[in-house]
Amino acid sequence: MKLLLSFTASAAFHVATGSASSIHRRDPYEIFRFPGRILPQFGGNDANQQIGSTGVNIPLEVWRIGATDLQWAGEITVGTPPQKFKVIFDTGSPYLLLPRNNCTTCGSQHNLFNPSASTTFSPSPGLPLQLEFGSAGGGTVPTNSSQRVNCIAATDTVSISSPPLEAFNQQFLVCDYYSSGLATQPADGIFGLGSLPTGLWPDKSRKTTVEFETAYWNWINSSASGDLSPEFGMFLGSPNPQLTLGGSDTNLYRTSTLRSRTIFLDVQLSTMRSSWVSGLRSVKVNNQLLLSSNESSPVFDDVALLDTGSAIILTPDFTTAANIYNILSPQIGPLDDLGSWGGPCSVLDNIAETAIISFTVGTKEKAVEVDLVKGAFNLGVFDEVARPGICQAVFVNPTEPAREPVRGRLAWVLGTPVLKGYYTVWDGKQMEVGFGELKTQEGNGGYEKGKGWGKRHGKGKGWGKWRGRGVWGL
Ligand SMILES: *[C@@H]1O[C@H](CO)[C@@H](O)[C@H](O)[C@H]1NC(C)=O
Ligand SMILES: *[C@@H]1O[C@H](CO)[C@@H](O)[C@H](O)[C@H]1NC(C)=O
Ligand SMILES: *[C@@H]1O[C@H](CO)[C@@H](O)[C@H](O)[C@H]1NC(C)=O
Ligand SMILES: *[C@@H]1O[C@H](CO)[C@@H](O)[C@H](O)[C@H]1NC(C)=O
Repeated sequence: MKLLLSFTASAAFHVATGSASSIHRRDPYEIFRFPGRILPQFGGNDANQQIGSTGVNIPLEVWRIGATDLQWAGEITVGTPPQKFKVIFDTGSPYLLLPRNNCTTCGSQHNLFNPSASTTFSPSPGLPLQLEFGSAGGGTVPTNSSQRVNCIAATDTVSISSPPLEAFNQQFLVCDYYSSGLATQPADGIFGLGSLPTGLWPDKSRKTTVEFETAYWNWINSSASGDLSPEFGMFLGSPNPQLTLGGSDTNLYRTSTLRSRTIFLDVQLSTMRSSWVSGLRSVKVNNQLLLSSNESSPVFDDVALLDTGSAIILTPDFTTAANIYNILSPQIGPLDDLGSWGGPCSVLDNIAETAIISFTVGTKEKAVEVDLVKGAFNLGVFDEVARPGICQAVFVNPTEPAREPVRGRLAWVLGTPVLKGYYTVWDGKQMEVGFGELKTQEGNGGYEKGKGWGKRHGKGKGWGKWRGRGVWGL
């Protein structure tokens, strides 16, 4: 889920965020990557590592409405004795957040964390944090209000899998307010898999920020065996989606394809907000080149946030969405003034089956082409009551152009309609992401030919209006 800039802390916090972090601060235009670098652990294809046995596999559950996959969640435990929670593994945000047992707005179907039932709980550091998410991660239809949580940073043991990886003294957020989009989704909380080993809490009273180690890195660094790689692998296809912590599951992808399909992140943008951001050179729609970067510029003209918490593709602006849909069909148009597009379901089904839409992502040093998963173009019926037979298409635009904060380049969000077609490997140490070819094509799932499309969402299920505010939520 894309975290919006607007923490309720003052704007000064964001400046502090940028400067307080000591990690990977580099000159924005420095060419810091060089091809041919030896990456010993990446992708589990090092000669010293046993194929298929690296990392800890975590089964994921998919939340699907109709034929559209919205979110992937897995189970963690927190506290002593352990309390169980389902959390969305989200590369678009850096925090672990859970609902607290005194929350009345967090959704009655959810497990709520009870601090007083845990002997290892500590209320420190006790910093209050209000977050705003600008994502359609819990849905696909943008709404005119964003999703919010009110939380306090506290400490406890956070564990996953059996035998467990344990993160002792882990700081995370316990929340006593969820807005409706978070309250109604099946998962209890969000597990941010942002790109950095550390996160920052704002300490408003002292006008500073407090650094903490993220739960993922705490697991990796303190794993008893000590042999976990600083990376995780994700398979979001069917039938058994899976997250692998500290390695990748080489049973699921062709290892030989990973290294040649690995891109470097834009280090400055990725570290600024602990996201996975790379350049975007071009988008091809049925072999028509829609946009392509100026080859004499040192970086690609656009950037893309790679977000496992978004079930859509967010274009940087209205015009870009319009240009894409113009190539595809005159019968597709805006469905609202909040960024949704669509048209007759039969038209969208046909495009979903036949169109080839691809994105060239990466940096000048290395870029790869990734395709929109077959079938993912059609998100399903938009509003059964008011507009029967009208389906929503996968590209959504923000209400104001989204730009990254360093050079003002237009910013996209590439969500799971692209990511689930690959075995993705995310390495926050080398700052790179690989797109391995799946061994089966089942990753191109979600779309069952001949079965048509069910109703994907009711009105109001969307997750927050895409408010560009002229600045991307980095
Ligand atoms: C925002 O949502 C409310 C409640 O659904 C609605 O009354 C209002 O017209 C909406 N505003 C816009 C700009 O869409
Ligand atoms: C929940 O409990 C915490 C800790 O006692 C408190 O700070 C917070 O205000 C409570 N929230 C609600 C909604 O009662
Ligand atoms: C955990 O490992 C990462 C990557 O090697 C490193 O950057 C970080 O400093 C480590 N954290 C701690 C607390 O050792
Ligand atoms: C391409 O980039 C170069 C170098 O940044 C710049 O001088 C030139 O004006 C750009 N050309 C276009 C068409 O934007």
